[in-house]
Amino acid sequence: MTELPAARIAPSLLSADFARLGEEVVDVVAAGADWIHFDVMDNHYVPNLTMGPMVCAALRPHTTVPIDVHLMVEPVDALVPAFAKAGADIISFHPEASRHVDRTLALIREHGCRAGLVFNPATPLEWLDHVMDRLDLILLMSVNPGFGGQSFIPHTLAKLAQARGRIDRWRAEGGQAIDLEVDGGVKADNIADIRAAGADAFVAGSAVFGRPDYPRVITALRDGIAQGDARRAAALNS
Ligand code: DX5
Ligand code: ZN
Repeated sequence: MTELPAARIAPSLLSADFARLGEEVVDVVAAGADWIHFDVMDNHYVPNLTMGPMVCAALRPHTTVPIDVHLMVEPVDALVPAFAKAGADIISFHPEASRHVDRTLALIREHGCRAGLVFNPATPLEWLDHVMDRLDLILLMSVNPGFGGQSFIPHTLAKLAQARGRIDRWRAEGGQAIDLEVDGGVKADNIADIRAAGADAFVAGSAVFGRPDYPRVITALRDGIAQGDARRAAALNS
């Protein structure tokens, strides 16, 4: 078991007040958010409809933290240059939604963004087998995509540990750094377990934007992450 990279907290705008998105971004970054998670839904790949590149471009001047775009759209490729132009830093997509996963990953990097692959709860990690060199981020869904406010699927913890193992082996063989992000049902009361299983980036929508005091909830999430780190350190030393 290895030590984990620094933890990133990525509040999901899906649960923010859509009538005040700019202010919400400013407030949550002031409260300590590391990334802004931007959920893009097309009412085709998932049964919900959210926001596109114009909204991303409108928010870009309101913050300097990375914008973490999670594409739940099919097809994927046409939106990659659009979101790169709109100021996205990270662009992730679901492999089932692209006919040519390797090409889409390359396209994201060609446009100057970090590339991520997203795994639904029932999507096997074997999709990683031939694309590790193309990746900057692996995102494991801990709910089925489409809606905020769902419950964390416990099986994700075992899958996170498997993904952590793949990343650690890749790094040990000289591969590039790859972030391991988790999305769905992340709360102050389960984030320690999620950290201990190996995640280093944490999307939280309803846990953050559903609350009146953003600094307080982000502090609670960081406390949970520290507990997860302590558990890993204890396991390392035993
Ligand atoms: C779900 C989205 C998530 C969602 C998480 O399809 O990808 O980012 O906003 O919301 P919570 O944290 O409420 O589960
Ligand atoms: Zn998301």
